[in-house]
Amino acid sequence: KGRDKGRRTVPGTDYEPVAPNTADAVVIPDGYEQDVVIRWGDPVEWGAPRFDFANQSAAAQAKQFGYNCDFVGLIPQDPLGWRNLMVVNHEYTSETMMFPAGTYDPDNPTEEQVRIGWAAHGLSVVQAIRDPRGGLRVVPSRYNRRITLETEFELRGPAAGSDLLKTSADPTGRTVLGTQNNCAGGVTPWGTVLSGEENFNQYFANAGTVTDPVAAERLRRYGLSGAASRRRWERYDKRWDVAQEPNEPNRFGWVVEIDPNDPNSKPVKHTALGRFKHEAANVKIAKDGRVVVYSGDDERFDYIYKFVSKGRYKKGRSAHARRHNMSLLDDGTLYVARFTGDSPAGEIDGSGTLPADGEFDGRGEWIPLASGDRSFVPGFTAEEVYVFTRLAADKVGATKMDRPEDIEANPVNGRIYAALTNNSDRGAAGKAGVDEANPRVGNRNGHVIEWEEERGDAAATRFSWRILLVCGDPATADTYFGGFPKDQVSPISCPDNVAFDRYGNLWISTDGNNLGSNDGLFSVPVQGPERGHVKQFLTVPVGAEACGPVVTDDLVLVAVQHPGEGGTPADPESHWPDGGDTQPRPSVVAVWKEGRWGRSGRIGVD
Ligand code: FEO
Ligand code: CA
Ligand code: CA
Ligand code: CA
Repeated sequence: KGRDKGRRTVPGTDYEPVAPNTADAVVIPDGYEQDVVIRWGDPVEWGAPRFDFANQSAAAQAKQFGYNCDFVGLIPQDPLGWRNLMVVNHEYTSETMMFPAGTYDPDNPTEEQVRIGWAAHGLSVVQAIRDPRGGLRVVPSRYNRRITLETEFELRGPAAGSDLLKTSADPTGRTVLGTQNNCAGGVTPWGTVLSGEENFNQYFANAGTVTDPVAAERLRRYGLSGAASRRRWERYDKRWDVAQEPNEPNRFGWVVEIDPNDPNSKPVKHTALGRFKHEAANVKIAKDGRVVVYSGDDERFDYIYKFVSKGRYKKGRSAHARRHNMSLLDDGTLYVARFTGDSPAGEIDGSGTLPADGEFDGRGEWIPLASGDRSFVPGFTAEEVYVFTRLAADKVGATKMDRPEDIEANPVNGRIYAALTNNSDRGAAGKAGVDEANPRVGNRNGHVIEWEEERGDAAATRFSWRILLVCGDPATADTYFGGFPKDQVSPISCPDNVAFDRYGNLWISTDGNNLGSNDGLFSVPVQGPERGHVKQFLTVPVGAEACGPVVTDDLVLVAVQHPGEGGTPADPESHWPDGGDTQPRPSVVAVWKEGRWGRSGRIGVD
């Protein structure tokens, strides 16, 4: 470790930060290279036709890479990471950007256009090999698979088969066609991928016609309202019409699990993890082997949850161990978080100024909602807790957070980190005011919170927490960078996805930069004298959100989601990545250190 002496940068973050900008490009630090790994429309499955923007079809899209890539999971298939499975979510479709100018009428989409939308949702699984030049190359393989809105999913866990989940197409309440609005996710220790169904509400029509007060309140709490849906899907499949299929919305808003190792496997929706606008789901193994899943509900004033399995994780990749581990999320206890501050309420004045003890911090507890078939919430059956989790959590005094996004455990220090992206309504008239865990009125730039479970045990029901970053322009007084000198950090706004490198540095991608420049990817050490030293690693093109991310020893992957959003096909504000006058295409990008990959190509200094 002597060679670390005198080093001013933390391992894994030895790069010159990229300055804020509005370039229509992925801008990376000097000394790094980049390449597009896969674009919207690129072939995934056997027989996929070449992408033809002017003549897209649902049959082609169902075999091609979907739209608006979000989460990226990279699962090495060998110890060197030469061969990998890459799993990517396709969160949503931007129809006005997906068809040539003048051919898509938002009020009257054609059936084929709607079916293209269904096929462009879901996930892609591809095999990807390291390119000797440094990047990652998608290859044809038996693993390559598209999962769309027409792929069969199995509902599992305590609410599967419930009357609340039955429809005319599925009287068993156990089989759902497809997944939508898959936002972030996580790779499990057993090699599968968990993916969160987030803003599922926007696809459903006619919630406004429901008059039964209980049903109407359930719809309202999940953001279902109004008449026609934005995409008009209800015209071509009645399941998107709440007036005709009142339970179909209850079949979305779950964490789904995909086994990329078995292209014939039936994906699963896990009811034991509750139903809300799941941003993501990430696993940590507790000391006794129980599996803990953290997940945020991305809505202003919504909650942070965790699930603790009943059974214990089995090590190894044998078929027996994998089958066992894939059943662990079927049974356990679902909790919601309450954060309590340790400073006098009067010192949390909404300005972002630190309280007298120098930290936004305190204690917390996990409040149980249900365990297996047993409900802990008065007035709710266990099935109701799982299907209407938000309403159950409202009853037990959980802490209303500033839009909980990705949550992940740090593999080095064991603490849990959650991105709270923003909440412009915090402290507004008629809305919840500030508390120590959400300390800024009209929180435009978001914050990042960390906690340590009691005794370092992920299954514990108590924890201690503190805020790592209060994001924004470091030149303003209402920001905080873990105590690091603010004149040395990159501005950061609207943290969304989080990941860790092998050194335990936190990497944060952003969505909706409120500081006037493009979104991007940042690194920040969380321990030692560099704690809070935020540096910007890259920026994404105009209109895009930075997603993914994956950070390995010698490779960074980001998903560039919705480049050009805000533009139109006639006047796209972005022509990335193909340039010229092409339409923008959401794509996954690889970044690596110049030169051959391997030890010399590491992102960090090692
Ligand atoms: Fe799809 Fe909460 O971001
Ligand atoms: Ca405090
Ligand atoms: Ca997100
Ligand atoms: Ca993540």
